[in-house]
Amino acid sequence: MEVPCIAVPQADGEETRQALAAAGVLDDDHRIVGEEGTLYIPVTDPDGVPEGFETTTRALPARETTQTPADRLGYEPSLERLGDVVIVDEDDPDRAAEIADAVLASDLPARSVLNRASKIKGELRVRDWELLAERADAETELSPTETVHREYGHEFLVDLAAVYFSPRLATERHRVVEQVQPGERVLDMFAGVGPFAIPAASQGAEVVAVDLNETAVEYLRENARRNGVSDAITAVAGDVREVATDYQGWADRLIMNLPHSAGAFLETAVGLAGEECVIHYYDIQHDSDPFGPGIEAIRAAAEPEYDVAVETEHVVRSYAPHELNVCLDVRLTKS
Ligand SMILES: C[S@@+](CC[C@H](N)C(=O)[O-])C[C@H]1O[C@@H](n2cnc3c(N)ncnc32)[C@H](O)[C@@H]1O
Repeated sequence: MEVPCIAVPQADGEETRQALAAAGVLDDDHRIVGEEGTLYIPVTDPDGVPEGFETTTRALPARETTQTPADRLGYEPSLERLGDVVIVDEDDPDRAAEIADAVLASDLPARSVLNRASKIKGELRVRDWELLAERADAETELSPTETVHREYGHEFLVDLAAVYFSPRLATERHRVVEQVQPGERVLDMFAGVGPFAIPAASQGAEVVAVDLNETAVEYLRENARRNGVSDAITAVAGDVREVATDYQGWADRLIMNLPHSAGAFLETAVGLAGEECVIHYYDIQHDSDPFGPGIEAIRAAAEPEYDVAVETEHVVRSYAPHELNVCLDVRLTKS
């Protein structure tokens, strides 16, 4: 049966799906279908579709009813999904095991179920994991903590046991990457497996991606290959304070995603900045003054050598009670 839908290029699929969901018109009763680079996303009400999308009709298959972990448990467990890995955050071992069993027995496309076993730790920002369950018949060479995550048309191979990665920052990364212009020189000072660096290279930038975690840099190189941007990215394993000596005055744009301690790297950032440079500075601050301390620290590091203009004060997410994860987009211009 023909149903109303939106036709978009494959690369815009996730952004469009989210926009339609936010507008309350995503039709969950039919499947999204991809054909020759175009995605057909079903909608419930063509009149409610946000401006800028063109509606069409197409025969899309109905979704079969799926069984969720909540259907089996009788309560809604708190779960996060990263690719085909399901993450739970459960202190009670019996309850953790019950949730893991329900996940594997449900129709969720889960290969393994992990429990958070520590907080994020140390300079490399990695946490410990407990493997609760894994699908015995999974045909894969990936370890239970490895998975492929897809975000705004890019794919990232990640090993949660060895690198930092959070899918919760996808929208924020997209906000930043959309500002990147072709030909720009972008330096990602804390690049992880490349979720800023790789899409920035896809925008046409020349990218240098640095991380202290050698394993993260290996994954970044693999991810650059998977996304067809190896030629545009120089991936460097090391402390960015040392790597920076090779890139003095080089960058048009700096990404500083190390929110607890980015302030300690501002001197390095100013050394990397070219005549004009935009810095995306991530910070965690009390909600009574989430931007003031970052702005003060940037001015202290960059003035009077540079004029400092704060272009955006952006709240990324709530981090803890009364603590916000924020981003400052700041333009430095040589005085
Ligand atoms: C919060 S993670 C962000 C990773 C990535 N930007 C992302 O969004 O997934 C911070 C990263 O900074 C790296 N790091 C910490 N200290 C560093 C340093 N001195 N030089 C370079 N990288 C560092 C850690 O290994 C970690 O991968």
